[in-house]
Amino acid sequence: MAILPIIEAPDARLKQISAPVTVFDDALKTLVADMFETMYDAPGIGLAAIQVGVPARLVVVDLMEPDEDAAPEPVDDGHDHENCGHDHRPMKKVPRVFINPEILDPSEEFSVYSEGCLSVPDIYADVERPEACRLRWQDLDGVVHEEAMEGLMATCIQHEIDHLEGILFIDHLSRLKRNMALKKLEKARKMG
Ligand code: NI
Repeated sequence: MAILPIIEAPDARLKQISAPVTVFDDALKTLVADMFETMYDAPGIGLAAIQVGVPARLVVVDLMEPDEDAAPEPVDDGHDHENCGHDHRPMKKVPRVFINPEILDPSEEFSVYSEGCLSVPDIYADVERPEACRLRWQDLDGVVHEEAMEGLMATCIQHEIDHLEGILFIDHLSRLKRNMALKKLEKARKMG
């Protein structure tokens, strides 16, 4: 496996429309493994293939979840963990691969989430999207799946599918806010 370089805005490659995946071979499995390693290393919760320079309709997502089987980790931060309501169990990975993903039936209800993106590092902004949808996609063997998505997963998958259309989350902002974000990014980059 390998950690791949992540392309950052305003690189023109991020504006490309990605092509459908038609060959489900070992090279695809290697690309997916590399994308997961790259995403976990960053770290991030979603990554589209175009963000590592591959214009293919393929995204990986991992929202992680508390590990039901693990014992709570002792946290010595002074508060009452018996009654604090926090989940002190370690998080476990829940890797999801979506090949040729398609949104079906986006809900009429919208939700707002403060989004970020590995291609627009350290910039966060509220984006409004349908709060739920159905997703159809293929797995690594080309088998078609369909599932209802809601909450953070619905937001995340819509953000990632946008990448396949050459759209960044900052493209959902007003031109003024987008330019501010890009300037901030450029300044941060100059300062190293
Ligand atoms: Ni992104």
